[in-house]
This record gives sequence, structure tokens and C-alpha cells, in this order.
Amino acid sequence: MGGRIVVTLICCGLLLEFSHGGGRLPRIINGSNATAKQFPYQVFYETFVLEDSSFWRPTCGGTLVSGRIVLTAAHCFALDPYIKALRIYFGAVDKSSASEEGQRRLVVDRSSVVIHEEFRPLTWYNDIALIRLPIDVPFSEYIRAARLPQPTNDYVNAVATVSGWGAYQASADGDLLWHDRLKYYDISVISNEECEEKRRPVVPGMFPASFICIAPSGNAPCRNDSGGPLVFKDGEDFILLGVISHGLSQNCTTHLPTVYTRVSSFLDWIREHSGARIEI
Ligand SMILES: *[C@@H]1O[C@H](CO)[C@@H](O)[C@H](O)[C@H]1NC(C)=O
Ligand SMILES: *[C@@H]1O[C@H](CO)[C@@H](O)[C@H](O)[C@H]1NC(C)=O
Ligand SMILES: *[C@@H]1O[C@H](CO)[C@@H](O)[C@H](O)[C@H]1NC(C)=O
Ligand SMILES: *[C@@H]1O[C@H](CO)[C@@H](O)[C@H](O)[C@H]1NC(C)=O
Repeated sequence: MGGRIVVTLICCGLLLEFSHGGGRLPRIINGSNATAKQFPYQVFYETFVLEDSSFWRPTCGGTLVSGRIVLTAAHCFALDPYIKALRIYFGAVDKSSASEEGQRRLVVDRSSVVIHEEFRPLTWYNDIALIRLPIDVPFSEYIRAARLPQPTNDYVNAVATVSGWGAYQASADGDLLWHDRLKYYDISVISNEECEEKRRPVVPGMFPASFICIAPSGNAPCRNDSGGPLVFKDGEDFILLGVISHGLSQNCTTHLPTVYTRVSSFLDWIREHSGARIEI
């Protein structure tokens, strides 16, 4: 892969290289601030890259699905050859604060990551990866796993929640802004038929059943939200419906659906690569 492609994939984490004429000002997330314990399954990680210089790079979100397994997106590892390690945040709201109550951090080796063998960067097929943790993350009020979804339920019209530390706003000239606080918003799941139809003018082509989409709204996930959760709350249980995969414009426009990897399409893959680390 040429450097340019790598850079594009990394910086645009969440999006495809299709811009959409006449788009409104992007409202990235435009979400609400999360509070402690609200999203105990949410994680974030930085990756340690060896290039010209070495540093921890804010990378993507993820979801704890057992004490030992984090699900995330495959495209987060586009800089793969250079990634040496991951620093994972659990139980955090303000990730800049190491002394935040309930927050835990864990550094794991790159070899802990399993990327879907058939991930296709250009079509975003199979955009899923998992991180095998070397220890059980201690559960608490702040840290708890989400459950995997039922394979037989498509969750159309379910109101689900998207969350992450991705860019929360774009300035007038299109620069993205970040801060250290977790944000979220609630939104309905739409059918794949509706999603494909809305997407077709921008991205013609195949639309696999392993995508799941949410309706366009005043909010959108954006850069660094990738890999994070789309969760449906069922009583006290959090059910992980999707892994944030991609949007359809450069700068996180909000008038098109955003696309997630449908977790229920990958239950066998997850089971196979989690070993005894998960109960399904
Ligand atoms: C949300 O959090 C950010 C960063 O801590 C803060 O600047 C902002 O004022 C908060 N917004 C609300 C509505 O509390
Ligand atoms: C959004 O991205 C496109 C293409 O990258 C750019 O031309 C446009 O100016 C951006 N829009 C805003 C509001 O930043
Ligand atoms: C931003 O989010 C708020 C509440 O979540 C919503 O009321 C508002 O309409 C959104 N802004 C835009 C521009 O859509
Ligand atoms: C995440 O955000 C940082 C800036 O905070 C940016 O440099 C980096 O490219 C982003 N990574 C991804 C995967 O979007």
C-alpha cells in the first residue's frame, strides 16, 4: 500500500473517500457528555507506532464483550506494520485524567490483536477485529462487558446509542476538534434496504447483510470513533449491535446514514478467535 492510502485510511478512520456536494456543515457527534458509569463497556485505545519518531497515537474506540475480549474495527489497524503496542482505557469518561475514579489502563502487545482475515479496506467488508487481553479486566460499577446480540433479531427501529471520543465538532474551515470527554447520542437502527437506498447515490455497489446502519440525524460519529459501540439497552443489559465502521463523507456529514459492522454476522468468528475468553 502506498503511503497516501495508508494515511487516508488512518486519518479518515470512519469514512470513505466520497464527498457529497452541498453537504451541510458537519456536526460530528454533536453528542451529549457522558457521565461516569454510563458506558461501562466502552473502551478507547492509543497505538504505539514506530515511524520517524515513537509516540502514542489516539486511535479508536472498542467494546468490552467479556473480561478478556475487546471488539473493535479492522480498519483501525491500517498502519499495522508500524504498530507495536496498544494502550487501552477502561471505565473512563475523561481520558486525560489518569486519576479519574474507576478508570483503568492496560498496555498490550500488538500480537494481542486479531484482524478479520477477509477485511477489505475498499469495500469495508468484515471491518472487525478483536483484542485478546492478557488478564481479566476487573469489573466494577465503571467497567462491565456488553452482551453479544441475538443472531435472529435485526433490531430495525430499535433505539440504540453510539458513543466515543471521536472529533465532536468541525470548525468553519473543516478542521476537526477533539476533547477528552466521552460523548454519545441515541438514534434508531434502520433497515439495510433503507440504508442501501440512501447510500446508493454516494456509494453504488454491494451492500452486504453484515452491515447495520443508523438513521442520519443532527449527530454523526467521526474520526477516532471507529471501532466503538452501537449498543441497545435491554433492561439492565447492554447489547452490542454494531462496531462503528464508516461514514460516507470526508468530514462526517450528518445527512447520510453511517455504517456499522453487524456483530451478529460475526458470532462464529468471535467465538473461534476468543477461545475460552468468552461465553456466548
Ligand atoms: C462537555 O464536556 C466538555 C469537555 O469537558 C466541556 O467543555 C463542555 O462544557 C461540556 N458540555 C456540557 C453541556 O456540559
Ligand atoms: C468537507 O470535505 C470536503 C472534501 O474533503 C471539502 O471540500 C469541504 O469543504 C468540507 N466541508 C466543510 C464544511 O468543511
Ligand atoms: C445536536 O444535538 C441536539 C441534542 O442531541 C439536537 O437537539 C440538535 O438538533 C443537534 N444539532 C443539529 C444541528 O442537528
Ligand atoms: C485520531 O485522532 C488523532 C488526533 O487526535 C489523529 O491524529 C489520528 O489520525 C486519529 N486516528 C484515527 C484512526 O482516526
